[in-house]
Amino acid sequence: MTRRFSGIKPSGEMHLGNYAGAVRRWVDLQDDSIYCVVDLHAMTVPYEPAELTAETRRLAMLLLASGLDPERCILFVQSHVPLVAELTWVLNCIATVGELRRMTQFKEKGRGQESVSAGLLDYPVLMAADILLYDTDEVPVGEDQIQHVELTRDVATRFNHRFGDTLVVPKATVPPVGARVKDLQDPTAKMSKSVDSPQGTILVLDEPARITKKVKSAVTDSETEVRFDVGAKPGISNLLSLLSVATARPVPELEAEYGTGGYGTFKGAVAEALVEYLRPVRERYHELAADPGEVTRCLALGAEKAEAIASATMDRVRAATGLLPLR
Ligand code: AMP
Ligand code: TRP
Repeated sequence: MTRRFSGIKPSGEMHLGNYAGAVRRWVDLQDDSIYCVVDLHAMTVPYEPAELTAETRRLAMLLLASGLDPERCILFVQSHVPLVAELTWVLNCIATVGELRRMTQFKEKGRGQESVSAGLLDYPVLMAADILLYDTDEVPVGEDQIQHVELTRDVATRFNHRFGDTLVVPKATVPPVGARVKDLQDPTAKMSKSVDSPQGTILVLDEPARITKKVKSAVTDSETEVRFDVGAKPGISNLLSLLSVATARPVPELEAEYGTGGYGTFKGAVAEALVEYLRPVRERYHELAADPGEVTRCLALGAEKAEAIASATMDRVRAATGLLPLR
């Protein structure tokens, strides 16, 4: 069995790019996988407590609505298994300030700030603790997180060298680049929650009328032919990719069907397909929103399963590092 672990930060709304590019894959690979909503990581930069609570719950609901099944995978909230803080401390005494300062994300997030929290510097150690606490073999991450997984490997290797074989040394897996979803208003930029482009970004929870409006006002070009050509026709190409993702039909087939029918008809088809693609997620989300007890139960089950793995690891770590047993 290969165990996968991945974390996602509760910040911002889930958009079509996140869903099509990452979350769908999580759902496909959910057996033997652990997925964690990393609320402790969200505290490393300034935030509002009430928003953190709401966003953590919301993201968990979105993941459940997307098809993560608490009976097949482990879905939990990071802070619900506080052992991760204990392992972070132990790893803090192995990682060096020098290597943490060299992390690209720390340099980027710290740039221009008058002061940053110690937590921001320590972010990768908390991430290493996540990964190592659960005996993880593979960590599916985006490119920007590879450096943190490499640090995790270094720290785990150093730990094992110093204290004997205790931690599983994981490796990063970068999923094959799927459809890169582009912004509808600027089809040369990727759809992103950091870019302030509300009209160009389709949110997973957008109502059908809103999705339709955004697709109908998507930027295209002054020709009339529906043809895939990212260089000359980035807008139409993006819409073709989206229609392909939403209908699981290959692009050439779609070009043949919509090639000469005009942009209006084509956009109508894209809008309809995206509405249907996201409908089950939105509907399931609203069911969960009406049944908060169910969400709490799912997360409690996840935390319980995660805790069982974590406490076995921590027992090994305590014994290896020489901490005095309580009994
Ligand atoms: P972010 O929260 O922006 O770091 O995105 C989380 C994950 O969602 C990334 O690692 C990507 O796999 C995926 N993702 C984000 N934006 C897009 C996009 N425009 N197209 C495809 N995948 C995306
Ligand atoms: N740092 C990751 C990100 O920003 C989120 C994360 C936290 C994570 N802990 C993790 C990812 C453990 C993989 C494994 O996307």
